[in-house]
Amino acid sequence: MEPSPFRFLLCSVLLLILLHIPTSKSEASSLFVNCSTAANFTANSTFQSNLNHLLSTLPVAASPSGFYNTTVGQNGVDQVYGLALCRGDISASDCNACLTTAAQHAVGECPRGTSNTLWYDTCMLRYSNSSFFGVVDWAQIFAWNLHNVTDPNLFDDQLYQLMRNLSTEAAYRSGRPPMFAVGQVQVINSTNIYGLAQCTRDLSQNDCYGCLSNCIKSIPNCCATRIGGRIFGETCMIRFESAPFYNLSPIGNTTAPSPAPSGQNKGDGSKGSGVTRTIIILFGLMIHTTILLT
Ligand SMILES: *[C@@H]1O[C@H](CO)[C@@H](O)[C@H](O)[C@H]1NC(C)=O
Ligand SMILES: *[C@@H]1O[C@H](CO)[C@@H](O)[C@H](O)[C@H]1NC(C)=O
Ligand SMILES: *[C@@H]1O[C@H](CO)[C@@H](O)[C@H](O)[C@H]1NC(C)=O
Ligand SMILES: *[C@@H]1O[C@H](CO)[C@@H](O)[C@H](O)[C@H]1NC(C)=O
Ligand SMILES: *[C@@H]1O[C@H](CO)[C@@H](O)[C@H](O)[C@H]1NC(C)=O
Ligand SMILES: *[C@@H]1O[C@H](CO)[C@@H](O)[C@H](O)[C@H]1NC(C)=O
Ligand SMILES: *[C@@H]1O[C@H](CO)[C@@H](O)[C@H](O)[C@H]1NC(C)=O
Ligand SMILES: *[C@@H]1O[C@H](CO)[C@@H](O)[C@H](O)[C@H]1NC(C)=O
Ligand SMILES: *[C@@H]1O[C@H](CO)[C@@H](O)[C@H](O)[C@H]1NC(C)=O
Repeated sequence: MEPSPFRFLLCSVLLLILLHIPTSKSEASSLFVNCSTAANFTANSTFQSNLNHLLSTLPVAASPSGFYNTTVGQNGVDQVYGLALCRGDISASDCNACLTTAAQHAVGECPRGTSNTLWYDTCMLRYSNSSFFGVVDWAQIFAWNLHNVTDPNLFDDQLYQLMRNLSTEAAYRSGRPPMFAVGQVQVINSTNIYGLAQCTRDLSQNDCYGCLSNCIKSIPNCCATRIGGRIFGETCMIRFESAPFYNLSPIGNTTAPSPAPSGQNKGDGSKGSGVTRTIIILFGLMIHTTILLT
């Protein structure tokens, strides 16, 4: 890879795009959309009504536990497979709100598309005309904080330890909610690191671990020296920040060994006095938007 010129070019493009994006509500805009129009469904088709049914039911079905996968329709041709996942630390009502937004924007973001995934800060929604349950998708989307760490060696050492620990925990410990882990580590003379690892719950434990490990391997490509970053895809995500970004009283209760930092942010997750830009880059896909972080 030739990261430097590539990123620089995309950054310029993204900054131009940023000018046209209302940045008031991070909740309302998706981080990324993966819309496929390789085949289009026809207007008023059975597929469309199945899709509408799916989109109208997923938020309510998924919000109590933070996850749901389902199939709508009887025959293979018109069937639609759908999945919804909320970040494991948000409440059922925040989950419902996030997924409702996703469902409302899904078709608008991908008119006639037969498969689509929308990622938001605290949830993701995915549907397709073909089954994807239980299958890892290895493609990744990168986002990184523009700020750099002061002590990369010390930071990296702790970062990798933390993310490996969280991946093991998400994949193999029966946490509540499942396949989710958060934790933090204090880096001497440097910033703290807050980390998160999560898989969609249709994956097996080993596939979850494989998916997360693949994300960790991409940290140098994505986010070397950065104080924060996210690597996410259709089936798992990792995120780290130098400030708390997850809520500490999750939907169920996690087994995460995370001592509560005193200044916790309640409710809106990462909403804060955000001045740092995170830029999303995709490989082989369209650039959708940029986001703000604390
Ligand atoms: C589906 O529709 C989009 C525009 O909405 C178009 O760009 C694309 O070529 C169409 N795909 C097919 C297979 O017709
Ligand atoms: C689903 O759509 C894809 C194109 O996105 C098409 O190639 C495939 O045949 C469709 N599958 C089914 C089961 O309809
Ligand atoms: C689909 O149905 C709507 C209302 O039910 C109608 O206005 C529209 O013309 C129909 N579109 C097609 C392509 O049949
Ligand atoms: C949800 O995903 C699981 C795991 O792949 C699968 O066994 C199950 O059939 C799916 N549920 C529905 C309703 O399709
Ligand atoms: C986007 O979706 C396609 C399937 O439609 C999948 O093959 C690809 O890996 C996805 N890309 C990302 C970045 O998730
Ligand atoms: C962080 O480091 C990268 C690469 O070394 C550099 O391009 C970037 O300007 C730095 N960012 C800041 C805010 O100093
Ligand atoms: C990772 O887990 C190991 C073994 O449980 C523990 O000794 C270490 O302190 C953990 N490191 C971090 C950064 O969480
Ligand atoms: C931390 O900083 C203090 C004072 O700035 C210094 O004495 C100490 O050696 C540093 N420790 C590490 C591990 O860098
Ligand atoms: C955590 O979950 C267990 C059951 O899974 C429950 O008994 C316990 O009360 C919960 N604790 C809190 C603080 O919610």
